[in-house]
Amino acid sequence: MYKYDDDSINRYNTKSVKYDEMDINFGRNDLIPLWVADMDVKSPDFMIEAIKKRADHGIFGYSKRMPEFYDSIVNWLDRRHNLKVSRDSIEYGPGVVFLLNMMIRKFTKEGDKIIIQPPVYYPFFNIIKGNNRVIVENNLVLKDGKYYMDYEDLEKKASDQDCKMMILCNPHNPGGRVWTKEELERLGRICIDNNVLVVSDEIHFDLVYKPNKHIPFASISEEFLNNSITCTAPSKTFNIAGLHSAYCIINNKEMMATYRKELGLLDLNRSNVFSQEVTQVLYEQGHEWVDGLVDFLKDNIDYSIKYINENIPGIRAYELEGTYLLWMDCRDLGLSIEELDDLFINKAGLALDSGYWFGKVGEGFMRMNIACPRSTIKKALENLRNAVNQLSTQVE
Ligand SMILES: Cc1ncc(COP(=O)(O)O)c(C=O)c1O
Repeated sequence: MYKYDDDSINRYNTKSVKYDEMDINFGRNDLIPLWVADMDVKSPDFMIEAIKKRADHGIFGYSKRMPEFYDSIVNWLDRRHNLKVSRDSIEYGPGVVFLLNMMIRKFTKEGDKIIIQPPVYYPFFNIIKGNNRVIVENNLVLKDGKYYMDYEDLEKKASDQDCKMMILCNPHNPGGRVWTKEELERLGRICIDNNVLVVSDEIHFDLVYKPNKHIPFASISEEFLNNSITCTAPSKTFNIAGLHSAYCIINNKEMMATYRKELGLLDLNRSNVFSQEVTQVLYEQGHEWVDGLVDFLKDNIDYSIKYINENIPGIRAYELEGTYLLWMDCRDLGLSIEELDDLFINKAGLALDSGYWFGKVGEGFMRMNIACPRSTIKKALENLRNAVNQLSTQVE
């Protein structure tokens, strides 16, 4: 039994988006919530103790980010990901989506084209469109249950003079690919040759399953480091999205100065007392906790994939190399988008992310968050099996 596997914690009425905001997306609140990408796993005890200790001080005045905060990030990146960067090339942001927005606003202009690789994390679409830039889709290709990049298409699109940026998702959400060094090298070469800046969202980087290994885009070469901005956070790793602590890596001094100036203008150059405290303590002491978490998540993934592929006809779950977001191919059920939503929501009682949210190529898929107690997964998959069985009875 894993210490992470605790179904005694109630998250309802805790101002949780995942639990208390289901009605907005699904029209009802009585579903098993397997959508928003946070975990039903308690953060490490030593972190909770650090928060209590800081809270006991009782004064929460203006606070500044300390060198130790940056050093903890430098050391984490080096030890876990073999990425060697200086303290100067790291800066705080309240969230990864915030950071991606900033990079779009500061380093492209209205009307510029930005490449993404659907099916992909849906805010990528919103932030490009919302900032009056143009979305360019370099769709991933699904072959035998695994996604690959289409380099020919990428080369064509990157060579457009108006194309100024690419937002990479590594590890990829959804679909769970952890891009290899060779894949990243090919992508990076195309972008460098065409003056396309790579913004690499690596928020899932710590949650990768052996033998796969996360390769930070910026770790490949000095040239790659200089033609990229990495945006990441401890939030997925330690389940602290509600504490708003993320950071970016910008090696180019001028670009970093531009970002820092903007952060200052927005009055975000100060620090939230708790998010700084927590990031530092997690990055200094959290190695063992994450190693155990990854084992727990991997067991949940293996259990879910086996159950789905053996018991639910018409749905296939594909291997995850990283992330806790299982991508289920439901196309063989032959249902429309509305019918598939109805099956999951009203017949199975589940709240999942619908595949079409991730782009047109996501239609017919569903994304399930397996970072929860095993008992929740069992209940959810049994519900799904019963709902699908009923479907085939109705057809007959
Ligand atoms: C790829 C990716 N990027 C960014 C985020 C959100 O990051 P933040 O909450 O720091 O804005 C998520 C959350 O699911 C994600 O999957």
